[in-house]
Amino acid sequence: MVDLPKIHSPYQRDLDEAVLSVVHSGGYIGGAVLHEFESKASTYLGAPVIGVGNGTDALQIALMALDIKVGDEVIVPAFTYAASAEVIGLLGAVAVWCDVNESTFTIDPNSVKSVLSDKTAAIIAVHLYGQCADIEALENSAPGIPIVEDTAQAFGASFTEGKYVGRYAGTVGALGTFSFFPTKNLGALGDGGAISTTNSMLLAKVKSIASHGQSKKYHHDQLGVNSRLDPIQAAALCIKLDHLPLALTAKVGIAEQYLSAFESLNGVELPIKESFSNHTYHQFTLRIPNGKRDGFATFMNERGVATMIYYPIPLHKQKAYAHFEPRTSLSVSESLSNCVISIPVHEALEPIEVLAIQTAVTTFFS
Ligand SMILES: Cc1ncc(COP(=O)(O)O)c(C=O)c1O
Repeated sequence: MVDLPKIHSPYQRDLDEAVLSVVHSGGYIGGAVLHEFESKASTYLGAPVIGVGNGTDALQIALMALDIKVGDEVIVPAFTYAASAEVIGLLGAVAVWCDVNESTFTIDPNSVKSVLSDKTAAIIAVHLYGQCADIEALENSAPGIPIVEDTAQAFGASFTEGKYVGRYAGTVGALGTFSFFPTKNLGALGDGGAISTTNSMLLAKVKSIASHGQSKKYHHDQLGVNSRLDPIQAAALCIKLDHLPLALTAKVGIAEQYLSAFESLNGVELPIKESFSNHTYHQFTLRIPNGKRDGFATFMNERGVATMIYYPIPLHKQKAYAHFEPRTSLSVSESLSNCVISIPVHEALEPIEVLAIQTAVTTFFS
């Protein structure tokens, strides 16, 4: 789905030098390179950023900063990656499932409204597949409930209208969390993550929790974790952040080519872009109903085109989360799990490869 060596090839030498300079510096924890990345990412996003070990830690630390405790309820979509819900269970809180929008795949504010209770302590809004979830509508559906924006898949997505116009995903909720897993919009050379918040009290808490709950060295004020973005990853991320705008433009170009090529096909539904958000196309996800998805995957595979299903089982049907019983209809999540399939949309695809993918899709549905 993603060809990382090819993506890196135009700036491989810069990456090598940046990584080697950390290797030769002897400073392998924290330090100037980490601060440089945090400051670059803050400038890009227009909000303070703290590096952590990965996107899952970022979610857990964000919930800890909100004091989520045993028995609290946290609303989370049933159609997302497991990490979004896993952290709720790890803290002894209760994951309360909500449904998603059928054509944009992001959290459905009406579904959230239907599961609110006096125990609701937070909402995790996932900016799934690369575009913004409707945070403004969510705030209207659940006034006063803190929102954690799971921005693992949408670094660089931004709001284009409404209250948050011009702001980046991950910077408008109580806290935003990011993953730098290598295949993400902004990917490291291994694991990495970050948290953003414009609330200075939460920012101080996040910093402390990510560092064993310390306020200063050997003074532990609260329970914390050990979660660091390491300087080798930070060095690579500094280089990759410089190339992000071009990468996102390339992905949007490919996606727009797919959208116009597939516009009149029957038997397949195309991803819808929200009017209030731009789309970074972390994934280009088709919906193929009526049990034809497997045949499509085989057909593409035979033509050398990768496909992936994100996600084949909604979270409320997973064994690990069976004790979190649904309280509302999750029919959209269930039906999406049976029909979604993503095709390659990475920035290093050659025009001839895009054309081959496009031709394969068009042939299948014609
Ligand atoms: C929506 C979502 N949330 C959280 C994560 C977790 O990020 P990480 O793999 O960096 O822990 C991912 C990663 O795939 C994700 O897609």
